[in-house]
Amino acid sequence: MRSDVTRAHYERLADKYDENWAYSPEFIEWMTRNLLSRLDLSPRRSRVLDIGSGTGLYARGLAEHASVVVCADTSSAMLERLPSDERLISLVAGAEDLAEGRVRLPHDGYDAILMKEVIHHVADPPQVLSGLLRLLRPGGRILVVMLPSEIDYPLFGAALDLFRERQPAPESIAAAMDRAGLRTELTYDEFPLVFSLNRYTQMVRNRYMSLLASFDDAELDDGNLRDAPRASRP
Ligand SMILES: C[S@@+](CC[C@H](N)C(=O)[O-])C[C@H]1O[C@@H](n2cnc3c(N)ncnc32)[C@H](O)[C@@H]1O
Repeated sequence: MRSDVTRAHYERLADKYDENWAYSPEFIEWMTRNLLSRLDLSPRRSRVLDIGSGTGLYARGLAEHASVVVCADTSSAMLERLPSDERLISLVAGAEDLAEGRVRLPHDGYDAILMKEVIHHVADPPQVLSGLLRLLRPGGRILVVMLPSEIDYPLFGAALDLFRERQPAPESIAAAMDRAGLRTELTYDEFPLVFSLNRYTQMVRNRYMSLLASFDDAELDDGNLRDAPRASRP
């Protein structure tokens, strides 16, 4: 997706983003625990840069274990939904701007950089990841959180095809981090989510995944009716 199209998508989605995910506090807690276990933060000392932070769904949990979390995102509408917390700093900036030093950051380095569900929006992930290295303090970590190359979400066929076409392979991201000079580890975790069909259909209508922005309302309703209900039944 082009960057202007991505930005417009998130500007539209912003007021529904948390609604789509807040149904499962257990999922958010589970994910936050996983992020914390990998980022190895020191409470009140670590500085975190959350790139593509969105509304701060995860930054707010990380902030409890850090001195500050800088939330950088290309969408000001998403950032406007950050909770008010003196440890959260909002910055309208893209991963590319940060990697190329086009944006001034409030600190001279970070102990942890998080990129959660954003790497698929970046045109040249190897270049961006390598550019971000200079923002790390000694011993710092970069954590990229992304979906695998194949998903079995109850989406209609055309949406799943588009996902396969657009999603970078986690292995290729890990290899790029390795080439950039990081000691890299790739792990997979999963958490089962259960929705009522009505709720899931509404999430699809809300375009809870950015790839759904490539389909108009009629295509989504048609796809939901045709494929999703069948796919979601045991
Ligand atoms: C799927 S949301 C993830 C939000 C948050 N990380 C989370 O997991 O809830 C993707 C976010 O990345 C932002 N984004 C898209 N392209 C970006 C880029 N090139 N640089 C920084 N942020 C970007 C979007 O505006 C959106 O807020």
